Amino acid sequence: ILVTGGCGYIGSHTTLALMAAGHEPVLLDNLCNSKQAVLGRIEAITGRAPRFYHADVRDQARLEQVLRDEQIEAVIHFAALKAVGESTRIPLDYYENNLTGTLVLLRAMKACNVRTLVFSSSATVYGDPASVPIREHFPRSATNPYGRSKLIIEQVLEDLQAAEPDWSMTLLRYFNPVGAHESGTMGEDPQGIPNNLMPFLTQVAIGRRERLSIFGNDYPTVDGTGVRDYIHVMDLAEGHVKALEHCHGKGGVHTYNLGTGKGYSVLQMVAAFSRACGHELPYHIDARRPGDIAECWADPAKAEQELGWQATRDLTSMCADSWRWQSSNPTGYEE
Ligand code: NAD
Ligand code: UFG
Repeated sequence: ILVTGGCGYIGSHTTLALMAAGHEPVLLDNLCNSKQAVLGRIEAITGRAPRFYHADVRDQARLEQVLRDEQIEAVIHFAALKAVGESTRIPLDYYENNLTGTLVLLRAMKACNVRTLVFSSSATVYGDPASVPIREHFPRSATNPYGRSKLIIEQVLEDLQAAEPDWSMTLLRYFNPVGAHESGTMGEDPQGIPNNLMPFLTQVAIGRRERLSIFGNDYPTVDGTGVRDYIHVMDLAEGHVKALEHCHGKGGVHTYNLGTGKGYSVLQMVAAFSRACGHELPYHIDARRPGDIAECWADPAKAEQELGWQATRDLTSMCADSWRWQSSNPTGYEE
């Protein structure tokens, strides 16, 4: 299985789940947002290092060589730029990397007769949903270049599958991935100031940041702060394995929400993380962040019924595992 973006946060954890299930992942990453040191951590956990190519998904010749040399049967495509705010400042970079990267990958797969793709989509394609929980048939929209890149790629995959029905396209729409591998040796390692709530919280807890800014407390939610469906990254990783095993070789477009079906507010997250790290976390209420929605959580029933997958790890383990990773690796993968 070729795993593009395999050194990143979700890709590296999915690599563990693939290996645990007896698959043979081959990683490809240009390391623009990750570190090669993750490979040693994977080896320490699994007893073997996956094969790794330091390459860009926009390099079609290199991709074709890897697909052939490694006799790849399916691709899980994580490689992308993913920061919403940054995407509004440098949209061309986002379209170039995410769209061109996917188009080049599809061309290479076609040339090498590999027809199974699992794509990292996002709950962001639902825009501001009319109601929650969100089901897969809800209308799609985008409010920023990052989200639009995901939406356009979904449509490209649908168009290609309609034209060439032997393609198996699986669109996995992730809700909010958090947590880390239970060992505490692998986790999320954002560069610079974290955009997302959980890594920001862990950095406040470890003393790298002074306090959390809560973006708005006047939303129509349980306590006024934004509500999201946080999902443990290992549950998400196992969802990829189930989706791959179910959809491999089955022509069609297969779309699944990967979430828990439960929503927690920012204040509930702060409280849960304080319990995990054993002390209070300083925060203040700030203005709403442009583009944020009030609440968002999944109806994960389709994945449960068709893939036999459901998230099993609760908020306490999400926080405990994030904290174990952050507290034993205060500067991430840096040696
Ligand atoms: P990440 O940045 O940790 O991982 C992405 C990896 O892709 C990185 O290792 C990066 O170096 C690599 N990469 C980027 N462009 C590349 C290119 N052109 N060629 C080769 N490698 C390249 O991000 P993540 O959180 O692991 O996200 C993985 C995927 O899941 C992304 O597609 C992201 O958009 C999607 N997603 C993430 C979230 C989230 O909140 N983390 C939510 C929904 C969807
Ligand atoms: N939040 C804060 N302070 C922070 C960071 C976040 O209050 O410093 C709040 C946000 O306002 C929101 C909640 O915490 O209410 C979660 O915010 P995140 O940035 O962690 O996550 P989002 O739901 O905004 O977006 C994430 C990814 C998107 C993806 C989406 C759905 O960043 O790429 O989940 O999967 F599309």
